[in-house]
Amino acid sequence: MSDPLRVLNPVVAEDVQLHRALGPLHLTLIGVGAAIGAGIFVIAGTVSAQHAGPSVILSFVIAATGCFFAALCYAELAAMIPQAGSAYTYTYATMGRFMAWFIGWNMVLEFGVSASTVAAGWSGYFMNLLHWFGISYPEAWANAPIAGTGISDMHLTGAVMNLPAFVMLLLITAILVIGISQSARFNAAMVLVKVGIVLLVVLFGLPYVQAANLTPFIPPNTGVWGHFGTSGVLAASGTVFFAYIGFETVSVAAQETRKPERDVAIGILAALAICTSLYVLISIVLIGIVDFHLLDVADPVTFALEKVPELRWLVLPVNIAAIAGLISVAFGSMYGQSRVFYGMARDGFLPPVFARVNPRYRTPALCTVITGVVGAVIAALFPLDILADLVSIGTLMAFISVCAAILVLRHTAPDKKRKFRTPYVWFTAPAGIATCGLMMFSLSNGTWARLVVWTAIGLVIYFSYSIRHAAPFKWSVTNDES
Ligand code: ALA
Repeated sequence: MSDPLRVLNPVVAEDVQLHRALGPLHLTLIGVGAAIGAGIFVIAGTVSAQHAGPSVILSFVIAATGCFFAALCYAELAAMIPQAGSAYTYTYATMGRFMAWFIGWNMVLEFGVSASTVAAGWSGYFMNLLHWFGISYPEAWANAPIAGTGISDMHLTGAVMNLPAFVMLLLITAILVIGISQSARFNAAMVLVKVGIVLLVVLFGLPYVQAANLTPFIPPNTGVWGHFGTSGVLAASGTVFFAYIGFETVSVAAQETRKPERDVAIGILAALAICTSLYVLISIVLIGIVDFHLLDVADPVTFALEKVPELRWLVLPVNIAAIAGLISVAFGSMYGQSRVFYGMARDGFLPPVFARVNPRYRTPALCTVITGVVGAVIAALFPLDILADLVSIGTLMAFISVCAAILVLRHTAPDKKRKFRTPYVWFTAPAGIATCGLMMFSLSNGTWARLVVWTAIGLVIYFSYSIRHAAPFKWSVTNDES
């Protein structure tokens, strides 16, 4: 096996070693498994309370539209450049070193900070479970000491740290270091648990939906941009976009796929369709069974179920499913993070220590420990909403670059054989750029400020180190290749 990292691929390892034969169903499960997490279990509730009310349903549809256009572009690139690394690799192959660094650095947000975000969301359900069993635990040790999504409203909360999130990420890091892989079968089980529980909530919750809770569908704007009204729908779309992140993981598995030209497109679109349907349905139930103003809590789904006596029996199963499901998403993100850093180090963007493989465990142990500890500290200190918006803006940037990359390639290598062609590319790719761009611009000034700081840190590393060490890219995409 040429790539020692394959052994710890969380979702495809078994199949890689057996017969490298992923089909459309596997791919769909990979996408759904990576996507369903804190976005639906936490953010749907908090965002409806803060920004959109019932129209968060519309926000989910807007976010899905952006993802749909980007998905079609991902499918062409994944079939054409079947290399691990996803958007980072595609950008390197099409737009050169600087842009590759920029996107790779944003993908650290997509994976690394995403793991911290999911861990922060996980701790709300974990605390709820402790309460359920009558175990008391000090709130100050389960919440972030920092709050506020804007620039001016950042403040200290008085809490010490989010200890459960911190410990959870350190445990995941330890598992990744010793290289215990999460098999394809485990991933499938996780997906069934998550989808099953969401369907149960929908099925049993729908009869308790009250039309009054869903009207007015778009609550009037409060006079502040992004607080209800049309601007609230838009602002919410940028935040709930977080719920879809992960579906594009399908493209990473392109080289393990039987027929990438067909199956990647099927898998990525099927995963997106399943997630969109589930998100819309569960939002209807969540907001339909309780007044949305009440949903600004750490565990909105169980909170809403508790308010309806006939649905209380669902609280414990949902809690357990959320806890297990969020761990699996955080695991996948942390794995992805170590993979991106490993790839960037191999390309010379980061010091070789990040690409060093531990001879005993055959994993990039040091890289995993460094990213795991930093991720755990971030999860301990920052609240979910700050982190989720930062992840969303970074990932939207990566999606836009994928849409742009495909246009560049159609121009520079028009005759290269394409196993999958994005339909109506001159409409689809610009539409993807426009929709994702709109979501980016709907995010708060504070999120933009944090993106600027993040980019500035990236530029310092690029100009002080990477520019002198980066290797020329080996994946040239020309017309002559087949
Ligand atoms: N989409 C993933 C989640 O919602 C990251 O947790």
